[in-house]
Amino acid sequence: MALKITVIGTGYLGATHAAAMAELGFEVLGLDVVPEKVEMLSQGRVPMYEPGLEELLSRHVAGLEGSSGRLRFTSSWEEVGAFGDVHFVCVNTPQKHGEYACDMSYVDSAFASLAAVAREGSLAVGKSTVPVGSAARLAALLPEGVELAWNPEFLREGFAVNDTLHPDRIVVGVESERAEKLLREVYATPIAEGSPFVVTDFPTAELVKTSANSFLATKISFINAMAEVCEAADGDVVKLAEAIGYDERIGKKFLRAGIGFGGGCLPKDIRAFMARAGELGADQALTFLREVDSINMRRRGHMVELAREALGGGSFLGKRVAVLGATFKPDSDDVRDSPALNVAGQIHLQGGQVTVYDPKGMDNARRLFPTLGYADTALDAVRGADVVLHLTEWREFRELDPAELGAVAGSRVILDGRNALDPVRWREAGWTYRAMGRPAA
Ligand code: UDX
Repeated sequence: MALKITVIGTGYLGATHAAAMAELGFEVLGLDVVPEKVEMLSQGRVPMYEPGLEELLSRHVAGLEGSSGRLRFTSSWEEVGAFGDVHFVCVNTPQKHGEYACDMSYVDSAFASLAAVAREGSLAVGKSTVPVGSAARLAALLPEGVELAWNPEFLREGFAVNDTLHPDRIVVGVESERAEKLLREVYATPIAEGSPFVVTDFPTAELVKTSANSFLATKISFINAMAEVCEAADGDVVKLAEAIGYDERIGKKFLRAGIGFGGGCLPKDIRAFMARAGELGADQALTFLREVDSINMRRRGHMVELAREALGGGSFLGKRVAVLGATFKPDSDDVRDSPALNVAGQIHLQGGQVTVYDPKGMDNARRLFPTLGYADTALDAVRGADVVLHLTEWREFRELDPAELGAVAGSRVILDGRNALDPVRWREAGWTYRAMGRPAA
């Protein structure tokens, strides 16, 4: 009989995982402790913007016309316990307030609740990003007969559906052949076709995730450090990235210089990793991540200074600043630790009149920064602006007509914080175009 799967926590990771498992033919029950989320998902709606996710979900949510009916949502732990052969725990591990360490309270409480209801013989599978050593600790909380496995997830926001259905690799940390066999059964579907299946122990599985994210963060900060040097030496970091990227050992990806990385993962993951290494007495091994973090944070301040310079130096008081982009990356409505909003907020705090426009992130941005100005279109944001900052590289912004914007802007100056616009198009339309890590003209 086919395995029955539960997914605990229905954020980006959980909602996508639940829908993907249903797509693969499993009966799936998703649990969230927030009743509004359960209600929304049960109607086939997703509480965030993620391309393709709502379509995938609606194809399977029980009760919707034409759906497979394989996917349901609940707030009841008893239901989850009775239903599941395999329980995927997908709850959030945010950064602790005022500390580097990650907040394990959601994971701990999910495992405590699961431990009370899971059937004998079922398998609990952790997917959340956790400090190394957590799996061993959590395994001890589970009752006799309920085993644990660790199966980190590598999906990117904006590509969540594709990354889940076609993962680069599947990594499982297990302590028994039975757990490995069950997970092979879960992934013995088209999902794993062609994907390497890496079987390892708990600590390695946990570390694969944090080290992968640290590597990605390091790559971005490396190219941003090169951008700083390029600016000092009149070099062009975009050409430099292209040229070093042809070396396959380096690769082209994750070498886009700009205002740096943000979001709910990379920044907090490198900090939690440093905190955990400290606890383990291995802090020296990760001191470089402190530099990765500080190069990254410096980018935001540097963008503020470039904006100040473009306005003639001195104070922002009374200056009108248009900000294109609020989310931490395009194709997402996520504004958690967004470099774009951070820059907008800094300029606002220094007296600038900031007007933000973002294709999908406006509601979340308004909630986080209610005092900033907001416009309904890019054109409205730019109207009368003394300087325009391009801070999240949405396709919509690449397709803007510089001439049309130039007609309404107070002054034709644009700073490209993502090195994503075409300098020639903007300059030909009479704009002063400036990007990070590239010569001024
Ligand atoms: C990341 C990891 O990529 C993913 O594998 C993991 O599961 C979760 O964390 P995500 O946070 O969705 O995914 O975004 P990602 O695409 O990695 O981008 C992170 C940040 O880095 C964004 O702010 C992006 O703008 C920035 N970035 C990315 C750069 O500044 N330059 C680059 O070259 C690439």
